[in-house]
Amino acid sequence: MSVIYSLKNVVKSRVLDGAGFRLQVPSVEIKAQENVALVGHSGCGKSTLLDMLALALHPDAADEFNLSPQGDDTFNIDTLWKKKKQNVLAKIRKQHIGYVLQQGGLLPYLTVRENIELPRKLMNMPEDDSTHSIARVMGIHRQLDKLPGLLSAGERQRVAFTRAISHRPSILLADEPTASLDPITARKIMAVVMELVKGLKITMITASHDWAHVYKMDLRSLHQEAEVVENGNIYQSTFRD
Ligand SMILES: Nc1ncnc2c1ncn2[C@@H]1O[C@H](COP(=O)(O)OP(=O)(O)OP(=O)(O)O)[C@@H](O)[C@H]1O
Ligand SMILES: [Mg+2]
Repeated sequence: MSVIYSLKNVVKSRVLDGAGFRLQVPSVEIKAQENVALVGHSGCGKSTLLDMLALALHPDAADEFNLSPQGDDTFNIDTLWKKKKQNVLAKIRKQHIGYVLQQGGLLPYLTVRENIELPRKLMNMPEDDSTHSIARVMGIHRQLDKLPGLLSAGERQRVAFTRAISHRPSILLADEPTASLDPITARKIMAVVMELVKGLKITMITASHDWAHVYKMDLRSLHQEAEVVENGNIYQSTFRD
């Protein structure tokens, strides 16, 4: 399978007055249609890494940060950031990446259907019946005309997943997408999402602190190690294959 993300010596620091956090990724490749978990405790940098993979956060340094969303064209993301090509980054993100935030991030004043169709509208994609068919697979097809505030937490997360893939991105990023749900509901939702993602040939990267879940689903995980360096001032977190 072709390589989608290729990262070498990527560094991102969050330092104030000489103290803080540093994220390192020495060498990671993620291949097309892989299903990868970023596993680690709270504060270890999972969201920071996902934000960089989503092209929403600029690394401080990178020997390599390449993205080949469809396996052919390769974008040098680090160069695009350095050249301040925010519009190009936004276009790549909009076209190729779906992102599910921890709390869903649905717009409260749009109906479920309007929320789901938003990424398609932003890309001028035509209306079709795909919203309804994916909503049916996700079990939210009866909720399409409601506002998100009237849904259960589990239904909202299922809407957030449906929205994130409505424009058929090749990459789906999910940040603790089921953290606010009970474990049984969380596993049910993830099982449906995994099937859907497999069928649509999407590469998926999920942040999770739930090891049991990751092992049970047999996901490839990027392991995280932490150490305190520079006289105790820097909490350094490293993600490796
Ligand atoms: N905007 C920011 N400015 C400064 N520091 C930040 C910022 N965002 C996060 N941090 C710090 O970076 C570190 C990593 O945060 P991050 O949100 O990536 O962790 P996480 O693994 O996603 O944690 P959680 O499991 O709690 O969501 C933390 O120490 C956090 O305080
Ligand atoms: Mg987080």
